[in-house]
Amino acid sequence: MGEGYIGFFDSGVGGISLLTEFCRRYPGERTVYLGDNANAPYGGRGEEEIYRLTRAALCRLAERFPLRAAVIACNTATAACIEALRAEFPFPIVGVEPALAPAAAVVPGGRVLLLCTPAALACARIGALVQNTRGVSVVCHAPAGLAADVEKNIFRLSRIDLSRHLPQGSFDAAVLGCTHYVFLRRRISSALRCPVFDGNLGTADHLAAVLNICSKNPQKRAKIAPIFTGEAKKKNKSVFFRYI
Ligand code: DGL
Repeated sequence: MGEGYIGFFDSGVGGISLLTEFCRRYPGERTVYLGDNANAPYGGRGEEEIYRLTRAALCRLAERFPLRAAVIACNTATAACIEALRAEFPFPIVGVEPALAPAAAVVPGGRVLLLCTPAALACARIGALVQNTRGVSVVCHAPAGLAADVEKNIFRLSRIDLSRHLPQGSFDAAVLGCTHYVFLRRRISSALRCPVFDGNLGTADHLAAVLNICSKNPQKRAKIAPIFTGEAKKKNKSVFFRYI
């Protein structure tokens, strides 16, 4: 285990899907999670505001924990401001992006649905990613309100009516460009009747490569427990989690 913490950040609960993937593949690393629940969702906000909120969250994490790296476990914040953040903080910062390339490799010539937040879809970084995806046609769709629905119903996901959020049409693959959507991966796959891809595994492996962490035996389930519950009682409701 390296010195210091790996700090994971998302607008809310979505990044826990990435934290879980990382802890399952690389157990034993010291991690801390900050979800900015007080300001979630970010998907309806402008780039400047997303940058301001994400920067403030990273400052909070870095003030309390010696960070050896930070993970922006949020496609929206990655798209909006990862370069600006990298220029400001002294530790490596890893982001998450829609797994369009892996999807394109599996369904060459196919129609690929990209689901992401309205704010992410408005970012030049996502536009460039779509433009540079070769060999498939990419259909972009931003289900306004889906991340908020997940945030609100994280302990009762079956209540979410996916038909309100998914587009009509037939697709050969779908790519989840929001870490909140990963909790609905199976349901999205069966509703669309196609394989579904997300960036979590690729990001977990990329983070490990950046930090030179070797894969150990993947655990079936990562144990994640909240630690600074005092934060949750305050009005800004942000919660820190630490992998145990
Ligand atoms: N989980 C975030 C993402 O991956 C954003 C959800 C939101 O706050 O709108 O984009």
